[in-house]
Amino acid sequence: MTDRPHAQPVPSLFTWEFAADPYPTYAWLRENSPVHRTTLPSGVEAWLVTRYADARQALADPRLSKNPAHHDEPAHAKGKTGIPGERGADLMTHLLNIDPPDHTRLRRLVSKAFTPRRVAEFAPRVQELADHLIDGFAGRGEADLIHEYAFPLPIYAICDLLGVPREDQDDFRDWAGMMIRHGGGPRGGVARSVKKMRGYLADLIHRKRAALPAEPDPGEDLISGLIRASDHGEHLTENEAAAMAFILLFAGFETTVNLIGNGTFALLTHPEERARLQTALAAGDRGLLATGVEELLRFDGPVELATWRYATRPVTLAGQQISAGDPVLVVLAAADRDPARFADPDTLDLARRDNQHLGYGHGIHYCLGAPLARLEGQVALATLLTRLPDLQLATDPAELRRRGGLIMRGLRTLPVSYTPVSVERK
Ligand code: HEM
Repeated sequence: MTDRPHAQPVPSLFTWEFAADPYPTYAWLRENSPVHRTTLPSGVEAWLVTRYADARQALADPRLSKNPAHHDEPAHAKGKTGIPGERGADLMTHLLNIDPPDHTRLRRLVSKAFTPRRVAEFAPRVQELADHLIDGFAGRGEADLIHEYAFPLPIYAICDLLGVPREDQDDFRDWAGMMIRHGGGPRGGVARSVKKMRGYLADLIHRKRAALPAEPDPGEDLISGLIRASDHGEHLTENEAAAMAFILLFAGFETTVNLIGNGTFALLTHPEERARLQTALAAGDRGLLATGVEELLRFDGPVELATWRYATRPVTLAGQQISAGDPVLVVLAAADRDPARFADPDTLDLARRDNQHLGYGHGIHYCLGAPLARLEGQVALATLLTRLPDLQLATDPAELRRRGGLIMRGLRTLPVSYTPVSVERK
């Protein structure tokens, strides 16, 4: 198979400069090489899909499998959904690594436990968490919003939802911190953190199963719900429940950190849009908040590339032949800026209506946690802008660095300043 001849040299991918602003490069790819073969920093060759219509089609194409066993590569390169340490064997049986019919069965079971109602009932807790975290730095006049806000909020939220006891949540925070800081490889501290988290979850599930009352409590946690969920008399095994809890934690953590981080950054660097949102919030109108969070997901979303897919047979996409066994990476960040789908795609418009972005994916692997992510994103941004109304960046945006890693797009730090607000500690 040969690449198309390019009129101009292909811009560099995956450098620090690219990471700071990948959008011009993605525009070039959409125009000149919409299904583009590249060598990833890991040395693995993969196809990048950058146009909206092709991306949407690829995300829902049953010929593209999520099972890494279909990857036509030496074993050492297999098993990458972007989750560090996942090669730890039994974590492999999670939703993002399997196809129907197994995927259908597991997704149906988890959907019975992880309902929109459970998420809606969780709203007051998310608000309490956001307020508590802001209380911690409001009086200081400066903060790093990634470490003090975007990072702890989702980890405590998901721990609470799963039913991890409060006294153990700081351990989770440390393990997750290790994974997010050094993600992308199963070595050393990351592998140890994943192992500890996995061991802890297995043990917690075992204990909860033993103590499960016959009838569900109204406030029952998600792990108990997962254990209880059944489909035609079938339950999750303890292993499946542990892998499920892990993927919920993992998929729901760094993504939400990035939504809060990238979202706040976009607002602080687009003063007119930010002012518009603050005015709406002050008037008690949350409509712009809802469309605004969707727009922030489209404009600079947390997941730059969808997780790995592998062609199970030869596939032609946008005229490009893809061989069986080839990995396909759908570039959500490129698709969501496609001018063939979105008017003025490089403009941040918090009131954008026609906004069917791919930030949560598409098809059978569409984000299971989207209602929770929306809740956390909306509460986190609204609380921040309301409580610290003159929030501003405390650094030159060009100085900000992104975290490494192929799949996710997020900032390492986000230093801000504001007029200190005294907080009465309860
Ligand atoms: C799947 C994005 C938050 C749980 C996905 C996918 C995307 C995504 C793009 C599909 C990946 C693919 O097809 O390759 C996001 C974003 C979030 C977010 C942008 C935050 C803003 C969450 C939360 C949870 C969660 C809070 C749960 C607590 C999941 C799960 C899947 C998934 C379990 C796999 C679903 C399946 O394979 O059937 N997410 N996610 N996500 N997400 Fe999210």
